[in-house]
Amino acid sequence: MKVLVIHGSMRKNGNTSILADEFLRGAKDAGHAVEKIELREKKFGDCFGCQACLKNGGNCVQKDDVAQILEMMKAADIIVLASPMYYFTWTGLMKRFLDRTYPVMPVLKNKKFYLITLGGVSDKKLMAHILTDFYLYVECFEEFNQVGCKACGSVIGSGVIKPGAIKESPAMQEAYETGKNL
Ligand SMILES: Cc1cc2nc3c(=O)[nH]c(=O)nc-3n(C[C@H](O)[C@H](O)[C@H](O)COP(=O)(O)O)c2cc1C
Repeated sequence: MKVLVIHGSMRKNGNTSILADEFLRGAKDAGHAVEKIELREKKFGDCFGCQACLKNGGNCVQKDDVAQILEMMKAADIIVLASPMYYFTWTGLMKRFLDRTYPVMPVLKNKKFYLITLGGVSDKKLMAHILTDFYLYVECFEEFNQVGCKACGSVIGSGVIKPGAIKESPAMQEAYETGKNL
């Protein structure tokens, strides 16, 4: 299977990136083809909300780096959204990108979605917000189009603030095993 990680932290070698790489290491060991997109390296604008894409077969009026990422999403079997928590939800970078996935809502069929996230707090109950955001994002695809997309799991790190702190977390093992057992 093709596994695509979409990474939405502004930190180059930050905790989310390290955790996502561990997930991908597991997936690779299991024989899957893996790719990782660094959103911070991409140039793209905010969704205009014009709805043109829903009337023209899924083409965004903005010609920027998002077009290629949407093609990669269509080609993937498994899509992993990897974002640290900022105010208990996605980073602004990730949210800006997710808004731009509107054109593929009718066409993104039979994808399995995973969430990789983490934050500075230690209480995992406080991660409920981003988990809900994740499930609702995937649910939008299902609710409107019944296209067989499913939220299949999540890996959550807690109590990590400094870059690299995630290496000491049990979430690393969980990420590897989740990737290995896709
Ligand atoms: C603007 C901002 C908002 C944050 N909000 C939260 C938060 O709501 N909850 C939390 O647990 N950690 C929060 N953090 C801490 C980050 O999630 C934490 O430092 C994380 O390790 C960063 O991941 P990264 O290295 O992948 O960028 C915030 C950090 C920043 C810079």
